[in-house]
Amino acid sequence: MMAPVCISAPAKINLHLEVLGLRDDGFHELAMVMQSIDLTDELECENTADGMLSLSCNQSGLSCGDDNLIMRAARLLRERSGFGELGARMHLNKRIPIGAGLAGGSSDGAAALVGLNTLWGLGLGASQLESLAADLGSDMPFCIAGGTQLCFGRGERLEVLPEVSVPMGVLLVKDPSISVSTPWAYAECKRERFHHYLVGESAFEQRREALRTSAWLRPLQIEAPPPLRNDLQAVVAPQNSSVRKALELLESLPGHLRVGMSGSGPSCFALFPDFTTAEQASQRSAELFEAEGLHAWCCSLLPHGVKLAA
Ligand code: C5P
Repeated sequence: MMAPVCISAPAKINLHLEVLGLRDDGFHELAMVMQSIDLTDELECENTADGMLSLSCNQSGLSCGDDNLIMRAARLLRERSGFGELGARMHLNKRIPIGAGLAGGSSDGAAALVGLNTLWGLGLGASQLESLAADLGSDMPFCIAGGTQLCFGRGERLEVLPEVSVPMGVLLVKDPSISVSTPWAYAECKRERFHHYLVGESAFEQRREALRTSAWLRPLQIEAPPPLRNDLQAVVAPQNSSVRKALELLESLPGHLRVGMSGSGPSCFALFPDFTTAEQASQRSAELFEAEGLHAWCCSLLPHGVKLAA
């Protein structure tokens, strides 16, 4: 029997999230740039001979039942493998905040696909795993290879971008008592902005091409940092005081390059020229964050997604 495997599952931030319009399946057509960061969960997977799938977690607030994306991913992979007798015991060490717009749950699900593919010796390639991931969640395909990618469609049409060579640091903040529901954020977006939505494939493709060729993206540079457009921020911030507070605080930090919200929030982040500057800003403002009830993390950009831990 194969030895247990341990998979690291990084969070992501959105360097760009543009809502283009509505799709025939009711989801939103998006144009995004996603970036992995080194705030990671860890998933341990061990073979069992009893054909059972089970999950435990270091955080009591998180459901380890059939609704957890890790369990859904494990069931789907086992079903598609055709080997219904496969079993695994899994344990999640959770560090990425939940309901935060950082794709923590999606990355955990992607880690289950990669980990169990290895543990069970199924030999599926990255593109097969990405296609399974797309059946489970919109952000999940990105999490397989991660790094820096353009994500179109619902998020499942991926175009890998060159590895970022700038040492940018990320200071991430979130109120631990607040989470934002992604379906709510998109529903609000539709309610408020529907009349501005683009219609039709050629209009969508024009925006995709504009993003592909945007000057800030090729390559990422400290001198011309990403504008950090996030169309959901304009919808979520007015209704969520913790997002407004976080953005305001980050904007006040000396030395930052840009400030924005990640995904559907409520996590917000500031980009800095490097990790050390981000860490210094975080240390200087620790009391301020605490007074506002915000937790803070300093991260670097990561050139990969879920990965077998050494
Ligand atoms: O795919 P995922 O489960 O992450 O999506 C959660 C919800 O967010 C969807 O049910 C949908 O309401 C909304 N969504 C959307 N368009 C996307 C992604 C998500 O409308 N591209």
